[in-house]
Amino acid sequence: MVGSVLLDRMREQGDFKTIKPTFFSTSAAGKSGPEIDGVKQGLGDAYDIDTLRKHDVLISCQGGSYTTDVYARLRAAGFHGYFIDAASTLRMERDSVLILDPVNLDVIQRGLADGIKTYVGPNCTVSLMLMGMDGLFKAGLVEWVSSMTYQAASGAGASTMRELVAQLATVADASRTLLADPAASALALDARVSETLRSSTLPTENFGAALAGSVIPWIDKAVADGQTKEEWKGHVEANKILGRSEANSIPVDGICVRVGAMRCHSQGLTVKLNRDVPLDEIVALLAAANPWVKIVANDKESTLRELSPAAVTGTLSVPVGRIHKLKMGPQYLGAFTVGDQLLWGAAEPLRRMLQILREHLKA
Ligand code: HSE
Repeated sequence: MVGSVLLDRMREQGDFKTIKPTFFSTSAAGKSGPEIDGVKQGLGDAYDIDTLRKHDVLISCQGGSYTTDVYARLRAAGFHGYFIDAASTLRMERDSVLILDPVNLDVIQRGLADGIKTYVGPNCTVSLMLMGMDGLFKAGLVEWVSSMTYQAASGAGASTMRELVAQLATVADASRTLLADPAASALALDARVSETLRSSTLPTENFGAALAGSVIPWIDKAVADGQTKEEWKGHVEANKILGRSEANSIPVDGICVRVGAMRCHSQGLTVKLNRDVPLDEIVALLAAANPWVKIVANDKESTLRELSPAAVTGTLSVPVGRIHKLKMGPQYLGAFTVGDQLLWGAAEPLRRMLQILREHLKA
């Protein structure tokens, strides 16, 4: 899925005009691949190390098990080129850089100058939080962030998006007759929906539970201290993106929750500022940080129109709204942000890294 979105973005942006691509597949080698500028491309074998290693840059959207299988063998076979990866496998390696250039171009440039050859797209939730809060981090105002997430089905893969829609369809089918009857009570409808959500007819192979009409407050596996791995990534990846060591880290933590959105992750944020800054200054800093962040006025009409997965999906916009000081005190800021997890959360940092590399290799 990330590969398809990446391909679409590269076509839209004319990226193929400036590179000579070769396409590889783990499952369809020898078959026909994507069409680029009217020409059908063939597909090479993604396990053919000898062919892969002859390229200047490799981009993988294949997933962690492919990276685990191939990366070390590629390097051992003498691949000295740049490896850009969407998978999490190499993110915390010492000789990799996490890429989110609107936020950390300086860290990327430093990596290039130091000869680092491995560049990895960060966790989507982390990237989208940093895109939204960029202005506060750049101004050095953040003491800590608590992020309560509302993560879309797409984050768990293409099959889970289908499962969410299949669950919605199962609920719709089960409640159709009651819904069509104006005399049927809301409680009768609720009983039918609840019974369906708990029944074995609901498809739950991927999620293991109902997501339609419900939420799942657990993403990925358990790690230490009661966190899930998704929550652990919030702290370690945000600080690595920002180029901060653990000793100098900014705490980022919260609870990650899967919700029934298709491909936009949302987050309710509490930010502890390291000093009291007037709200209008905060808004100005957030708005000016990067071209994609968009401030949404803290009113109902603007929020309903602009601050939801339904409004944002398929766009590069990262709206930040509900911005206000919290009752805990003047240094506590509340905000809500939304972003497409397949664009800024996955594909976009990869295609932009390719552009950065192109400039770097030209220089
Ligand atoms: N791990 C994320 C999720 C997606 O499950 O939503 C990719 O970073």
